Amino acid sequence: MTDSRTPGTDKETGTGTGPVTVLGLGAMGTALAQALLAGGHEVTVWNRTAARAEPLTAQGARAADTVEEAVTASPLVIVCVLDDAAVRATLEPVAATLADRALVNLTNGTPEQARATAAWAAGHGAHYVDGGIMAIPPMIGHPGSTLLYSGASTAFEAHRVTLERFGAATFLGTDPGVAALHDLALLSGMYGMLGGFLHAVAMVGTEGGKAAEFTTALLVPWLRTMMTALPEFARQMDAGDFGARDSNLAMQAVGFVNIIEGSRAQGLRTDLIEPMRDLIDRAVAQGKGGEDLQGLISLLVPGASGAPDA
Ligand SMILES: NC(=O)c1ccc[n+]([C@@H]2O[C@H](COP(=O)([O-])OP(=O)(O)OC[C@H]3O[C@@H](n4cnc5c(N)ncnc54)[C@H](OP(=O)(O)O)[C@@H]3O)[C@@H](O)[C@H]2O)c1
Repeated sequence: MTDSRTPGTDKETGTGTGPVTVLGLGAMGTALAQALLAGGHEVTVWNRTAARAEPLTAQGARAADTVEEAVTASPLVIVCVLDDAAVRATLEPVAATLADRALVNLTNGTPEQARATAAWAAGHGAHYVDGGIMAIPPMIGHPGSTLLYSGASTAFEAHRVTLERFGAATFLGTDPGVAALHDLALLSGMYGMLGGFLHAVAMVGTEGGKAAEFTTALLVPWLRTMMTALPEFARQMDAGDFGARDSNLAMQAVGFVNIIEGSRAQGLRTDLIEPMRDLIDRAVAQGKGGEDLQGLISLLVPGASGAPDA
């Protein structure tokens, strides 16, 4: 096995077809490896369960027998496994082989985990970049896929062209935790939307409404319209300007009772929507009934008056 440590060629040539190693071949790691193969890279892959490499070797990847063999095959090593514990279990035994390599961790994690792994990797001479994948596997390498990165900017720039094989590459700064922070923030927004989607479909379903018809004809157009208000809400949050213009919280608190009671009367659980009702009620109880919904942000910040732990 040759120890290939030639620096990535992306920055110098803009072609980005250097050797790349992918550790972890679940649904996402497989999609990442496939995008690299499609881009003409020499791709070395490793997975804890070796059989999962077989579809990729049929497509031109080389399967390494050990993590060490995989890591030493490329100057750019991408790890995408289940969680932070799996990253550590995979990399710690081969720490000595990471020196001078770019290590790009696309495993979902917290900012704290990213910073700890960055410090650990730097201690072994690796150039660590943390990443958040804002896409599902079939989107990788296709329009609409975006990945967030932060950490070692030189390593990111050196391999930017390669990383753009996966989707648009947005570098958020040299703090290795900042990509994970934004990844989790975006996922929070997504799960909030999906929670509302589930509850709305369940409500209509209690009277025999079909999910597909309701979603296409009514829910998606409604959510799209409501989404256009978010930039202005955000601007008001940045300005600390919470005075209600059109929809004060006292009015929304009354309307929310109808959502809860109407749902219960249809035989539904209200777990997904009650936390929002509780927050609105708390704000109104604190005299914020004349504010707009975006004022609730202050109740989410620890230590703020009315925050859950305050
Ligand atoms: N799929 C998505 O839609 C999506 C979207 C964005 C981000 N992500 C993130 O991408 C990462 C991978 O997701 P995935 O969809 O590929 O998950 P997955 O299909 O469940 O695959 C999990 C991978 O982690 C490996 N693994 C688990 N525990 C391990 C350990 N202790 N040591 C070594 N390897 C271990 C598995 O190896 P074995 O095959 O041996 O079990 C497998 O390769 C996750 O952090 C996920 O949050 C996923």
